[in-house]
Amino acid sequence: MSVKERFYVTTPIYYPSDNLHIGHAYTTTVADSLARWHRFAGRDVLFVTGSDEHGQKIQRAAAAKGVSPKAYVDEIVASFKHLWEKMNIKYDDFVRTTDERHHKAVQAVFQKIYDQGDIYKSTYEGWYCTPCETFWLENRLEDGNCPDCKRPVELVQEESYFFRLSKYAPRLLEYIEEHPEFIQPESRRNEMVNFIKSGLEDLCVSRTTFDWGIPVPIDEKHVIYVWFDALTNYLTALGYPEPNEMLDKWWPADLHLVGKEIMRFHTIIWPIMLMALDLPIPKTVFGHGWLLFDSDKMSKSKGNVVDPLVLIDEFGVDPIRYFLMREVSFGQDGNFSRRALIERTNADLANDLGNLLNRTLSMLNRYFDGVVPEPAAAPNEVDKALIDYAKGLGEQVDSLVKGLKLNEALVSIWRLIGRANKYVDERAPWNLAKLENKDELGTVMYNLLESLRIVALLIKPFLPETGSKIWDQLGLEDLEENSLADTTWGLLVPGTKTRKGDPIFPRIEVEREADEPAKTEPKKEEAKAEAKAAPAPSEPEGVLIGIEDFMKCELVVAEILEAVPVKGADRLLKLQVDIGTERRQIVAGIAQHYQPDQLIGKRVIVVKNLKPAKLRGELSQGMLLAATTPEGRVEVVSVSDGVPAGSKVK
Ligand code: MSP
Repeated sequence: MSVKERFYVTTPIYYPSDNLHIGHAYTTTVADSLARWHRFAGRDVLFVTGSDEHGQKIQRAAAAKGVSPKAYVDEIVASFKHLWEKMNIKYDDFVRTTDERHHKAVQAVFQKIYDQGDIYKSTYEGWYCTPCETFWLENRLEDGNCPDCKRPVELVQEESYFFRLSKYAPRLLEYIEEHPEFIQPESRRNEMVNFIKSGLEDLCVSRTTFDWGIPVPIDEKHVIYVWFDALTNYLTALGYPEPNEMLDKWWPADLHLVGKEIMRFHTIIWPIMLMALDLPIPKTVFGHGWLLFDSDKMSKSKGNVVDPLVLIDEFGVDPIRYFLMREVSFGQDGNFSRRALIERTNADLANDLGNLLNRTLSMLNRYFDGVVPEPAAAPNEVDKALIDYAKGLGEQVDSLVKGLKLNEALVSIWRLIGRANKYVDERAPWNLAKLENKDELGTVMYNLLESLRIVALLIKPFLPETGSKIWDQLGLEDLEENSLADTTWGLLVPGTKTRKGDPIFPRIEVEREADEPAKTEPKKEEAKAEAKAAPAPSEPEGVLIGIEDFMKCELVVAEILEAVPVKGADRLLKLQVDIGTERRQIVAGIAQHYQPDQLIGKRVIVVKNLKPAKLRGELSQGMLLAATTPEGRVEVVSVSDGVPAGSKVK
C-alpha cells in the first residue's frame, strides 16, 4: 500500500488583544488555500491555527477594560472563530494557549529542557517591549525604542529562568546551512544567519511581575515567557507530550507560515527548543511580507486597519480571498486599497471569469438547449492549442503551489480563462450556428464547457464558493469527490444538463466610489498611459475641429504579436505590434483589463504618428485606441482578421 504524502501547515497563533484585521486574514487565507489544495491533490493534510492568549499585553488590556483576562480573551477568540467561518477557513484544529492540553504540553517542554540542564536560574536586567513581548539588549535598541515596532521599551529587573540559546548557536547555523529549504525566502535566511552570527544571548523564559501565564512547573511564582509558551502550540495540536500516533504521523511540520517580524522566534528560538527536546526541526518556515495600507503598516493607532468582516459584507468572501493571493507576491510586502480590490474584482472575476461562464452558458442555451453536446468534429489547431494548455494546467498549478507561488498559480489558471475568452472570439460560435455546422459548433461549445469545468476544480481550493457556483451552473454533482486527477481533459459527459444562473460576479459600480477619495492613485506615468489607451474627452463638449485637424492623426490597423506585463507597473502592458510597414513597441495602460494572452493576434487601431515616449523606462512608439465604459471597463478598438495590418483608418 502506498503511503499518502502528508502536509502539516500552521499559521501563527494570533494575540486576542484586539480584533483581527485584513493583514491577519492574509496569512490564514494562504494557509487555508494551501491546505485545501494539498487535500485536493490527494495529500493527507493537517491545518492548525489558534490564539496566543497569555502575557503581559493581554493582562494589561483586560485590566484596562476591568474584566478578567480569561473573560477578555474568550470574547475575542470567539470573534476570531467567527471571522474564519466567514472567510471559509477550514482548519483542523484551533489551539488556544489557555487549553488544558496546551498547559500540559508547555510545562512538559519546560521541565524536559530544565532537567537536562539547558534552563538555569539567574537575574534578568534589561529592556522589554510589551507590545512585541520581546526582550532586547541595550545595543539592539533604536533611539532607545524597540527596533521592531519602534515603541518605547520598559526596564525590567527580575529573577528569571534562562534558556541556553547561545550553546546551540553553532549547531543551528550548521543546520541552516545544510537545509536551505528551512528558512524561506532566501533574503530572510540571510537576515537570520546574520542575526545569529552577531551573537545569541541566553533567553529569559520566565517572568514574575505578572501572573497571566502558565506557571513554571518547578517554581510557581514564575510564569513561562509567552513566546516559549506560544511556540509549543505546534506540538500541542499533536497531543505532545504523550507519545501517540498524531505526533508520529505529523511531526515535523511541513510549513510554518509567519510574518517577517516573527521569523526570529520561529527560526532561532523554536528550532533550538526542538534541538533541546531532541525533536526534528520543521521542514520550512516561510516569512511572508506585510499587507500595507497605502504603503504604510496597518495599525490601530494610525487608524488604518481594514476590517475583513466589513469587506466581506460589501464584496463577498471570494473577491477578498482572490485579491489577497493574486495581488501580492508571497514573501514581499503588498498594498491593500479599496480601489485595487474593486479593479481586480471587476477585471479578473467579473469580466474574465464571470463573463466567460455567462456567455458560454447563454450560447449553450441558444444552440443546444443548455445540454452539453458531443465534441463531434475533430479538433483544429485553435482547439488543440486550448486543449493542450488545459491538459498541463493541473500539474503546473500543483508545482507552483508546492513552491508557495500562489499568485503565479492563479495567473496560470487565469491564462486558461483568457485563452478560452479569446477562443470564443476566434471560433465565433455564432458563425458556426449560422452555417448550421452542428458538429463543429458542438466541439467548440464542449471545449469551452470543459475548460470551465477544469477552471472550477482548480480554483476551488482558492475560491471555494466560486468553484462550487461554476460547478452547479455546469450542472455537475459531487464536487467534493473530485480531485486533481479529475482535471484530466475530456471528463465532462455529453448530455449533462447545465443550469445557467445569475452572473457569479456582478460588476462593482465604480461611480459608488466617486465620493470617496481614492486610497491609491495610479502612478503618474501609468495614469498617463491609461489616459492614452482610453482617451478621455479633453476638449469641452461642443468645440468643433476641422477635418484638417483630424487628418493630422495617422491611424492604422496593427496586429498585436506579443504582450507582456511591465515589471513593477501593474497597469501597463508592453506590446509588440506589426503596423504593416514595421514592427513597433507600444506601452498601453490596459493590464487591469486584459490578460496578455487575450491580446495576441488582435488587430487594433494605432495612432502611428504620435511622438515616442518612455513609460517606466520602456519606449512607446504610438498608442492604441480603446473605449471606456461609464463603469470604467476598457475595451480596445479592434477590427476583424480580414483587415490586414497597415490598413489606413479614417
Ligand atoms: N502571537 C504571536 C505569534 C505567535 S506564533 C507562535 C503574534 N501574534 S500577532 O497577532 O501579533 O500576529 C500574528 C501574525 O499576523 C504575524 O505573523 C504577523 O506578521 C501577521 N500580521 C499582522 N499584521 C499584518 C499585516 N498587516 N500584513 C501581514 N501580516 C500581518 O505575533
